[in-house]
Amino acid sequence: MSFDTLRLKSGKLELIDQRLLPGRIEYPVYDTASGVADAIKGMVVRGAPAIGCAAACGIAVEAIRFSHLESGEFLAKMEDAFSVLASSRPTAVNLFWALDRMREAMKRGGNPAEIAMLLEREAGSIIAQDVEDNLAMGMHGAELVPDGARIVTYCNAGALATAGHGTALGVIRSARHKGISVYSCETRPLLQGARLTAWELSMENIPVTLICDSMAGYLMQKGEIDLAIVGADRVAANGDTANKIGTYTLAVLAKRHGIPFHVACPTSTIDPNTPTGNEIPIEERDSSEVRGYRDVEWAADVPVRNPAFDVTPAELVTSIITEKGVIMAPDSAKISALLAR
Ligand code: MRU
Repeated sequence: MSFDTLRLKSGKLELIDQRLLPGRIEYPVYDTASGVADAIKGMVVRGAPAIGCAAACGIAVEAIRFSHLESGEFLAKMEDAFSVLASSRPTAVNLFWALDRMREAMKRGGNPAEIAMLLEREAGSIIAQDVEDNLAMGMHGAELVPDGARIVTYCNAGALATAGHGTALGVIRSARHKGISVYSCETRPLLQGARLTAWELSMENIPVTLICDSMAGYLMQKGEIDLAIVGADRVAANGDTANKIGTYTLAVLAKRHGIPFHVACPTSTIDPNTPTGNEIPIEERDSSEVRGYRDVEWAADVPVRNPAFDVTPAELVTSIITEKGVIMAPDSAKISALLAR
């Protein structure tokens, strides 16, 4: 990989600023939990696993910053840090999963300096585990990819959305020796497919063709797409899957054309406490993202909706690919068996 998505260095977090890609590569530095929460909210860092890793680092940097305080004051500051990070974005469950892990790690420490050290170590291990999980997921997922497959993907579930390698793009990376090629849907409104997925794949010379979101059905009808692989922000206990808005449309199209529709995600994205997709909180973002892009506005005076995610019902999902293995035709029983492995 020729870039790092995030680095925890000398008690500070460096994030590649994904709002600027692919035009500019910059690494703003964060040393407060509220700064990291703003970076998550503002999409400096995005993608479910990367959000989880960044939140863990947000806790670690805050602990380091306040490690000189006496215990009571330190713990109060840490409570504020947990709550500011937990309110940054609601859909990706990896955020809450990572915060829970940091809370557990905190319990193992004594004085503030010791806790800060433990939290820094825990954030580092969440990052390392994410890369390992993605490599395992890539290996399992590659077995589902036929030679020469033409794969459609959506949004960015790549190295940029994780600590490295990626989930859906991790499977694609791990299957590149099979002579695959990729259609990347541009992913309105924030163009993660056009700006991030196309950039990541072309840098590694993995054949990628950019399409507008509305073109996927046409290409499926013409027999030019063999399978779909996407990431996930939260998988409910029954296999319903929340991912970037437009994923559901792609899944319906895939079903209509008999094209396998795979979801790749670490088990930290599976939420056993959310029974079905109906209970997954869907983030609504600012209308400015739909009215235009960056400093161009083309629709000023019209009501706008901007749900950032949608839910693909489990019945449209061919498989869920995780670091623990693959489950075909996911349902509650298979998911709880997978989590128990
Ligand atoms: O709003 P974003 O860019 O954070 O949405 C990201 C996605 O929907 C990804 O597909 C998902 O988080 C999986 S990332 C491995």
